[in-house]
Amino acid sequence: MSQQRLKIEVAKAALKYVEPGMTLGVGTGSTVNAFIDELGSSGLELTGAVSSSDETTERLKAIGVSVLDLNHTGDLALYIDGADEVDSHRRMIKGGGGALTREKIIAAASRRFICIVDESKCVGVLGEFPLPIEVIPMARALVARKLIGMGGSVSLREGFQTDNGNLILDVRGLDLVDPVRMETQVNQIPGVVTCGLFALRGADQVLVATEQGVELR
Ligand code: A5P
Repeated sequence: MSQQRLKIEVAKAALKYVEPGMTLGVGTGSTVNAFIDELGSSGLELTGAVSSSDETTERLKAIGVSVLDLNHTGDLALYIDGADEVDSHRRMIKGGGGALTREKIIAAASRRFICIVDESKCVGVLGEFPLPIEVIPMARALVARKLIGMGGSVSLREGFQTDNGNLILDVRGLDLVDPVRMETQVNQIPGVVTCGLFALRGADQVLVATEQGVELR
């Protein structure tokens, strides 16, 4: 099965958790795009959605879903989003698409977070995928020096600005065996808006598309 087919299968599986009238949190990325396509053809009527990026907002509007301000919705019943890596404890690296900060905000506001991935995203230990870190522009060099001091190898995502007007540093080589500890440590560096480790608040369930079907983990 192609990777795109796996994304469509897991998107269809996620749709079963969406109830009419819900206000849904919606993530960012190609797997979420497949989910939005499925949502559009399902005929399901939502109250609305809270979007994690400008790209997702455009796609939601295109299928007729109202995009709501999180400040007016209160907590959300359900958040659907993809990941770049996920471990067996449902901790993740996210932010390959640069939307990590809004994704983390929506995750924190959601009672249930279902992560949707194909099998290629499942890992034993997080960290093969470079860890995205959103930084305030004036702190770019400071944050990079601190991360190098922690054992990281840092590269600026060239020509990229987040929806919040900030920069992304992609970091390899940090020891992520204890991702909660590393998430806490990185988030304490002045100038870091968010790091792409989702360990303090991981997913509640992970739907994994495999060649044999979609598994709930
Ligand atoms: C967006 O910033 C990310 O957190 C995405 O959730 C992640 O990159 C997964 O994207 P794909 O579904 O395109 O792999």
